[in-house]
Amino acid sequence: MSQTQLHIRQMTLGDVNLAMNLKDQVGWNQTPDDIRRLIEYEPDGCFIAEFDGVPVGTVSTTSYGTKLAWIGMMLVLPEYRRRGIASQLIQKSIDYLCERGVTCVKLDATPSGQPLYEQLGFLAEWGFQRWEREGENVPTFLLDGDL
Ligand SMILES: CC(C)(COP(=O)(O)OP(=O)(O)OC[C@H]1O[C@@H](n2cnc3c(N)ncnc32)[C@H](O)[C@@H]1OP(=O)(O)O)[C@@H](O)C(=O)NCCC(=O)NCCS
Repeated sequence: MSQTQLHIRQMTLGDVNLAMNLKDQVGWNQTPDDIRRLIEYEPDGCFIAEFDGVPVGTVSTTSYGTKLAWIGMMLVLPEYRRRGIASQLIQKSIDYLCERGVTCVKLDATPSGQPLYEQLGFLAEWGFQRWEREGENVPTFLLDGDL
């Protein structure tokens, strides 16, 4: 891939709507607050991939001191997949975490992410299932006043 086509830049609080738009396109359920929290917690460690100037992918890192970090928000828009964009986003995240002295990096994988991570050297530790269903309107109650 030509390096002039792909540009990976830091994700900032100004990118919350952009990240929401990208995750909507792959059907995930994060809220703007979820994304804001990720950026505020790791302001130098969340990234956006732009392909020919078009935002096409995201990744986030969350460090817990130097003993553990988690990679998340790893997505690439369908029409831009199989060009190595996710691989470069992950590499950017790992380089960033290494610079911070993080010694262990983990993530949870979807079926479409697993081959990518295995190719990059991640080892499966355990399995889990993701379930989804339609949401419903459940009332919430507030007891106002001093308790
Ligand atoms: C998973 C995902 C991020 C991969 O993005 P991508 O930019 O296509 O990944 P890359 O181009 O860097 O892939 C690198 C290699 O991983 C492997 N790979 C990636 N996706 C694969 C798949 N679905 N099946 C088999 N191998 C795959 C391939 O060997 C690929 O090498 P190739 O370019 O020689 O084919 C993308 O499919 C995606 O956004 N999926 C939906 C969201 C999601 O599930 N994210 C992962 C959360 S854990």
